[in-house]
Amino acid sequence: MPILNYPGKYIVIEGGEGCGKSKQADLLEQYFNEKKVPNIRVREPGGVPSAESIRKIVKDKSLSLEHITELFLFEAARTELFAKKSIPALKEGKIVLSDRSGDATKAYQGYGDGIDQHWINWMNMQATFGISPDVAIIIDINPEVGLARETHPDAFAAKGLEYHKRVNEGYRKIAQEHLDTHILIKYQDGSIDSMQNLIRAHVNTKLKKFLSQYIPSNGYVVENNSQPKKQ
Ligand SMILES: Nc1ncnc2c1ncn2[C@@H]1O[C@H](COP(=O)(O)OP(=O)(O)OP(=O)(O)O)[C@@H](O)[C@H]1O
Ligand SMILES: [Mg+2]
Repeated sequence: MPILNYPGKYIVIEGGEGCGKSKQADLLEQYFNEKKVPNIRVREPGGVPSAESIRKIVKDKSLSLEHITELFLFEAARTELFAKKSIPALKEGKIVLSDRSGDATKAYQGYGDGIDQHWINWMNMQATFGISPDVAIIIDINPEVGLARETHPDAFAAKGLEYHKRVNEGYRKIAQEHLDTHILIKYQDGSIDSMQNLIRAHVNTKLKKFLSQYIPSNGYVVENNSQPKKQ
C-alpha cells in the first residue's frame, strides 16, 4: 500500500465512552477557526452519508452484531470517509480533526473483544490508504465515570464495565506504543478548559512548523514566503 504524501495534518481525539472527546474536539476546532487554520471536522464512524448509515447499524443494540461484523463495518465506514472526505482535505493542506479513528478499533475490537491486533492494524491501513495520525489525543478515563453519564447507552456503552476497563487499558497501551505522536491526557472532572489547554499545547508542539503558516508567534517566523525558520 503506497503511503500518501499530503500537506495537511491528521489529528484524532480518542478515549472511552463519555470522556469528553466531542467537547474537546469542539474546543480545538474553535481554536483552529479563531486562528484561521483550514480544517474539517469528522467523526468515526461517519463523516460521509454512507458511513453515517453504517453508524446507525453499529450503534443499534437490537442487532446483536458479531464482533467480526462490527470490525468490517467500522473499516467499511472508515474507507468511505478517507476516500471521499479526509484524503481530499489532507491533499488540500487542511487539518482533518477526527472524533475517533483506527485507534478506537484497536481499543474496542482488539483489546475489548480480543480480535487479533495485527489483523486490525492491517485493515486500518487498508481503510486509511496508509495514513496514520500525525497527532493523537487519548483521554484516559475511569470507565465507571464515563459510563455513568451515558443517558442512552448504544451497543458499545451496553457492553459492560469489564469490557470498558479492557478498552481503557488498551488505549493506555496504544498511547505508550506511539510516544512520538500520541499523548495520554487524564480526564479531570469539571476541568474541561485545563484539559483543552494541555491538548492545545500538545498540538502546538507537534505541529509547530505546520501551524507557523497561520500562527507566526508559534515559535517560528515566516520570511518572504521562504520556508519557516526557527526563532
Ligand atoms: N472534564 C469534564 N468534566 C465534566 N463534564 C464533562 C467534561 N468533559 C465533558 N463533559 C460533559 O460530559 C458529557 C459527555 O461529553 P462528550 O459528549 O464530549 O463525551 P464523548 O467522549 O464525546 O462521549 P461519547 O463517547 O458518548 O461520544 C457532556 O455533557 C460534556 O459536556
Ligand atoms: Mg462523542
